[in-house]
Amino acid sequence: MTSDRWAEINRLYNSAVEVEEKKRSSFIEEACGGDEELRREVESLLAYDQQAQQLLDRPAMQMAAEKLAIEPPSLVGRKLGPYQVQVLLGSGGMGEVYRARDIRLNRIVAIKVLPRHLLERSDLRQRFEREARAIASLDHSHICALYDIGHEGATDFLVMQYLDGETLSQRLRKGLLPTGEVMRYAVEIAGALEQAHRKGVVHRDLKPGNIMLTEAGAKLLDFGLAKRQPVSLMAPPSALSPLARGTTGGPTETKSLTEEGMILGTLEYMAPEQLEGKEADARTDLFALGVVIYEMATGQKAFQAESKASLIAKILTAQPPPIGTIQPVSPPELDRVVQRCLAKKSEERWQSAAELSSQLREIAESNLESLKAQKRATQQSGEAKKLNPGPSHWFPPRIRNRQTSHQS
Ligand SMILES: Nc1ncnc2c1ncn2[C@@H]1O[C@H](COP(=O)(O)OP(=O)(O)OP(=O)(O)O)[C@@H](O)[C@H]1O
Ligand SMILES: [Mg+2]
Repeated sequence: MTSDRWAEINRLYNSAVEVEEKKRSSFIEEACGGDEELRREVESLLAYDQQAQQLLDRPAMQMAAEKLAIEPPSLVGRKLGPYQVQVLLGSGGMGEVYRARDIRLNRIVAIKVLPRHLLERSDLRQRFEREARAIASLDHSHICALYDIGHEGATDFLVMQYLDGETLSQRLRKGLLPTGEVMRYAVEIAGALEQAHRKGVVHRDLKPGNIMLTEAGAKLLDFGLAKRQPVSLMAPPSALSPLARGTTGGPTETKSLTEEGMILGTLEYMAPEQLEGKEADARTDLFALGVVIYEMATGQKAFQAESKASLIAKILTAQPPPIGTIQPVSPPELDRVVQRCLAKKSEERWQSAAELSSQLREIAESNLESLKAQKRATQQSGEAKKLNPGPSHWFPPRIRNRQTSHQS
């Protein structure tokens, strides 16, 4: 679907919202003038709004009862193969994550239990196992390691490195990050993508919820697990199958988002080509990383809107305001680099994580140099005590190497 088409859908959707409910259908009919696709898209957006509203109106007790009926009992205290499940760490669109102990190796791990329908077909299971092998081959200090995949009875699960820390989305709730930290995490994540892309693994769902901040820096989670195809909120839970919809090149690939009902998951970090239902490539991850860096540096999402339709239209058509207009102390070069990540056409973005990574490193280095110069100048003017030198504890790896060679 083209950007103009989205703008048209968005315009009509916004007008339709303003129209009294009982007159809405004939209003849309008339406004569409026989354009069936347009009518379908607008109606499905409206249906999504209605569903969301009903959800808000539903009494809490009823929702809790429904939840209990749908959700399987907690696995805490159970054993999954050699893993003794200890605590529920959190849950997301793909199932729950638990802390567990590997009783053979006596080490703590994190276990992600996958939704039952995900691997029910043998072709999906084979594909999943193939992808898991690719992910397990990644060995990078800023990628959460995948240790094992397994199943116990009807439960399929992934076993990964347990990470102690908070997710970037939890951190962002407290506001923007200081420039030193922004640069540190940006360089680390770009480095992680560089290695993964070199091995042919695309993340596809890079977002603050999939980045853990630990003492050792940022760690990227959930590589390659993302839904390939937007899935419907309207579909029954058994149909909400991320990988199940991920057959490349199949007929679902060409379906528009709203044709499916509505999109499940976080839209804010999706690249235009993902919203258009096309296959993701390495540059799709660079777009998402641009959105993440923008948010770390400004405390604001690069693309935000009141409705999903407007959000999609923004991602497809709008360029976010320069970082410097929101956070003036951010290095001006960072905005240039981030805006290029956010180019609508993937050919106009940085073409590889390696390219982006080297740009980010340079900015990190010169930011550090300017902090040092600032510190020297302040010391000279006798104001050293007032100065907070920032994150001098972290050096981009190239600087660290250079320092080591100086010393030797
Ligand atoms: N390896 C890990 N070590 C420690 N905690 C983890 C680990 N992986 C995930 N978690 C915790 O579990 C929570 C849920 O993770 P999960 O990936 O299921 O959700 P999500 O990232 O919010 O959504 P999505 O399904 O879209 O990835 C995370 O927010 C994090 O707090
Ligand atoms: Mg996740």
